[in-house]
Amino acid sequence: MSKAYNVAVAGATGAVGIEMIKTLEKRNFPVKNLKLLASARSAGKKLTFKGTEITIEELTENSFKGVDIALFSAGGDISKQYRKAVVDSGCVMVDNSSAFRMDDDVPLVVPEVNPEDVKWHNGVIANPNCTTAIMLVAVAPLHRAKKLKRLVAATYQATSGAGAKGMEELIVQTRQLLNGEAIEPKAFAHRIGFNLIPHIDVFYDNGYTKEELKMLNESRKMLHLPDLQLSCTCVRIPVLRAHSESLNMEFEEDITPDEVRAILSKAPGVQLVDDPMNKVYPMPIDATEKYDVLAGRIRQDISRNDLKGIEMFVTGDQLLKGAALNAVQIAELL
Ligand code: A2P
Repeated sequence: MSKAYNVAVAGATGAVGIEMIKTLEKRNFPVKNLKLLASARSAGKKLTFKGTEITIEELTENSFKGVDIALFSAGGDISKQYRKAVVDSGCVMVDNSSAFRMDDDVPLVVPEVNPEDVKWHNGVIANPNCTTAIMLVAVAPLHRAKKLKRLVAATYQATSGAGAKGMEELIVQTRQLLNGEAIEPKAFAHRIGFNLIPHIDVFYDNGYTKEELKMLNESRKMLHLPDLQLSCTCVRIPVLRAHSESLNMEFEEDITPDEVRAILSKAPGVQLVDDPMNKVYPMPIDATEKYDVLAGRIRQDISRNDLKGIEMFVTGDQLLKGAALNAVQIAELL
């Protein structure tokens, strides 16, 4: 009989934390005991796991005694603050924040992309940026076949990327705007209702945002391609959940749309949704609450005179493949 594990979810009341709990349940992860941790504000409240109510506890340094795996999604500062307490307790931290992703002693893992990297962890495994994870589930199988050289992306990112408060802001603002009421942006730099914002996370001197450079650096790390050329523009759009991405890829070897479809139709975690003549293509509403990344609009790049360029559109549930599902899949690998 397989072993069961003591699992903790830190940030259990957040948008990702809630999905982590649901994903542990849906995938029937072998949980012996589940500990739900959040701030003092939430301590004493209850959440349900497999039909049983579990009381939320305040996250403290003593929370990890006897815990085997802790899934963290309470922000980077909290992850940094508790790393030592987690590791000293002999517990493995699967961290959804960006705190440790680029650290040399921390593997950054998407199970469909680089499962082998789980093996060299020292107590912490990082979950990548959600947009990067969704992209690489579809891009890694193509890279394995034809060697990726350069990628240019534009993203269309849902408000769920800013947590529960981001989704709430879209709903509240939409209602207020329809009622002609004044709105006050809080979770985003500008109004998100009936608008889009080409700005996710902070700007650097080179004009890129932190989110855009995460796409570059995390892709290089997970694909083991330190020289990968990648540029992107990340945009927040008024969608509740599921991020979309337009990808222009250049490969070392010739590749045709039929070959892309053949590769992706067999790729784990990818669902081919590519029949544009019948209005079939990936859309965020169809990816919402799904585990698979949807891939479609696959075509040869007509700006080139060769067969090395491919255009593709992907959509994935940011809270699942982009966060909670990936964390649980890493726990499964462990
Ligand atoms: P709480 O609900 O008690 O504030 P989101 O990403 O959706 O905003 O969620 C953030 C998660 O991180 C929530 O579960 C939140 O708990 C948790 N959190 C925020 N600050 C702390 C803290 N100081 N200690 C523990 N958990 C925290």
